Amino acid sequence: MKRTHYCGELRRKDENLDVALCGWIHSSRDHGGLLFLDLRDREGVVQIVVSPEKKEVFKIAQSLGSEFVIEVQGQVRLRPKGTENPNLSTGEIEIDAREIEILNTSLVLPFEISEFNQASEEIRLQYRYLDLRRPSLQRNLILRHRIVQSVRSFLDKQGFLEIETPFLTKSTPEGARDFLVPSRLNPGHFYALPQSPQLFKQILMVGGMDKYYQIVRCFRDEDLRSDRQPEFTQIDLEMSFVEEEDVMGVTEKIILEAFKVLTGKETDLEFPRISYEEALNRFGSDKPDLRYEMELKDVTDDLKNSSFQIFSNAVKENGVIKALCFKGGAKLSRSEIDNLTEFVKRFGAKGLAWIKFTDAGPESSIVKFFSKEELAQVQLKLGALSGDILFFGAGAWKSVVIILGSLRVELAKRYDLIPKSGASTYKFLWVIHFPLLEWDDQEKRWSAMHHPFTSPEVENGDFLESAPEKVRARAYDIVLNGTELGGGSIRIHRKELQQRVFKILGVNEESAKEKFGFLLTALEYGAPPHGGIALGLDRMVAIFSGEDSIRDTIAFPKTQKGICMLAGSPSEVTELQLKELSLVVKKIKN
Ligand code: AMO
Repeated sequence: MKRTHYCGELRRKDENLDVALCGWIHSSRDHGGLLFLDLRDREGVVQIVVSPEKKEVFKIAQSLGSEFVIEVQGQVRLRPKGTENPNLSTGEIEIDAREIEILNTSLVLPFEISEFNQASEEIRLQYRYLDLRRPSLQRNLILRHRIVQSVRSFLDKQGFLEIETPFLTKSTPEGARDFLVPSRLNPGHFYALPQSPQLFKQILMVGGMDKYYQIVRCFRDEDLRSDRQPEFTQIDLEMSFVEEEDVMGVTEKIILEAFKVLTGKETDLEFPRISYEEALNRFGSDKPDLRYEMELKDVTDDLKNSSFQIFSNAVKENGVIKALCFKGGAKLSRSEIDNLTEFVKRFGAKGLAWIKFTDAGPESSIVKFFSKEELAQVQLKLGALSGDILFFGAGAWKSVVIILGSLRVELAKRYDLIPKSGASTYKFLWVIHFPLLEWDDQEKRWSAMHHPFTSPEVENGDFLESAPEKVRARAYDIVLNGTELGGGSIRIHRKELQQRVFKILGVNEESAKEKFGFLLTALEYGAPPHGGIALGLDRMVAIFSGEDSIRDTIAFPKTQKGICMLAGSPSEVTELQLKELSLVVKKIKN
């Protein structure tokens, strides 16, 4: 090894030590003849001082450009009093350079290696090797590595076996499109990259492995967002002979382990539980963000008889009226409210009714439709004081809660209601008692809310055929700060029940056999009761490291359009490659 230490690890205690360091020239300054170089490696930056008396070294130092790679030999010394840099972990010392060797030069950079550079994300992804030199990305990848290590060691101690499952496989139903891989040896046939190892981990349980885990890449061809990548990583596990409590218990411990890596100490996190229905009722979301309040309140009974027809008609049509109170929101301008109205229209709202409370009383063009008592009742229920604003939604329950829930999140973002430190920085919760099925209005059929292998709750499983909407799933989602971090369930382990569920989902016997025949058959050979969960590793690391996008936790992510800017994929392939795969590409004009 050329180096004796990392740049960032030297401290006052290392005074007088002879060291060899390797790294990149972060910056250089000429101060009254002396040359100061900031040398950077993965662990941080250290100051190198080159005096003009050492002619040879000085000459080399003068020729160094940004991001040149050097090896330097020298002695650690304390910085002169008054020149220490308290913002730098190595700020009390510097290296008196004795020898410098240039290991490589660098072209002029397309952007500065700094957290503050203004380069577009596309350019940063194209030169990802430069972007990766940024301290925040290095920190994120180090955190990711440490979390993975701690999870591995924890699960190993708990008796989980790490078992790999195939990437070249068959479609797995997680609700996205598949990425397909043509088979050269079987012309016209395709593998699908797994959307998750779901079917294989269940088969591993039938195979008697008892406790499986894998930190595994999954592939989903879906529209990308800041928390979605086409390939992402799950902490995936499955256990035999378990109930919900067992899987949820292990998951909480995994999160506590990961959290210990983040904070460096044992922390007592809380994992409250709420039902799907309560989550929608109170927060308008099945992944509520508990870092701030603004709960939705039902005001149907209070306003159903008002002369405001939009409200009273909604109730007549079996709908609801709900409201939320934005504290201090009475100061919102007309254009800000118009802007919020446009926002909720994206979620299907026709408009956005509001009432401001000021010292002069309630204010809004709709106030005239309500009696004093109605206004007072609503104000009391929402806890609105002078200076606050109420927003209302009226109509079918599901659409009203979703609209107000989206507004709640948007208000928190726009008006900075999210605490960045303190006890409310990380808010976990479990959402349970999901419906097993949801009605797909477009396709006019029931679809699985999680996936088709999720077991119905025993108490209401008998309604499967007669009243599918009543059947709840043995599923659980873990939510962190308004993001779905993971989801899992107790599975169906008997073939008859699996077939009943397929039937309700409109999957006929033939197609079930074709798609999941291997699982169905396996269920007939003594499949044990089993269940599991998968946590999104990228999302966990992103939230823990305060990043808005999971792209900042993945070494080589894809852009919003699914492009790898670095390697330039996806790309066209040669005629020969296509021929070998028995493929013909037909160009379709848009
Ligand atoms: P699910 O589909 O809920 O469950 O996925 C589990 C978790 O994976 C993460 N995730 C993603 N992260 C980044 N980009 C994506 N495109 C993406 N899609 C999902 C989320 C999510 O909560 N087989 C089941 C698990 C089980 O039942 O055991 C499954 O995959 O954090």
